[in-house]
Amino acid sequence: MNLRYDHTVKDKKNITGYFYLINVFFLILTGFGQMPIFNRYYIADIPGLGWLGEFYVTHYMHYLFVIMFLSFITYIITDYLLSKPKSIKITSSGYSRGVIISGIVITGGLLVIRNLRGSGFEPGFIIFLDLSHLGLVIMLMVS
Ligand code: HEM
Repeated sequence: MNLRYDHTVKDKKNITGYFYLINVFFLILTGFGQMPIFNRYYIADIPGLGWLGEFYVTHYMHYLFVIMFLSFITYIITDYLLSKPKSIKITSSGYSRGVIISGIVITGGLLVIRNLRGSGFEPGFIIFLDLSHLGLVIMLMVS
């Protein structure tokens, strides 16, 4: 494999790695921002962090970072399927993180539908979705 190709692969890995970390960081921040945490523990009182206490600000920012996250996942999967030779090797922890992220996307998608008028989800199912989304997020954070 020539040096130039090596460099390109390395650069791409670095850029996608940083993009993934920053995207997930803001998804976690805006996700927890939808829970009454940042007001309760006065974090929203810190100058410059007032927006963390605004439900609708963190809610729509969560959606914005979700769109970026879903586009990123689509790019990574497409790049992997099309790249010859395979530019990345998937490890067992990669597979388990893939399963966790799939669960986050499915529960998140259903929560988006829940927020639509007339979704008609049962209260018990909504609690299950909320706790599953949160539980999977915590699993992703520790994985
Ligand atoms: C790594 C990715 C993600 C992280 C870390 C994350 C984190 C969170 C957290 C911590 C909450 C608050 C849970 C609660 O209120 O109990 C939340 C809520 C939510 N998330 Fe995510 N999320 C992620 C991806 C997604 C995706 C992909 C979607 C949509 C496809 C999504 C849609 C939602 C919705 C609709 C809510 C509920 C907001 C409400 O209270 O109405 N999330 N997220």
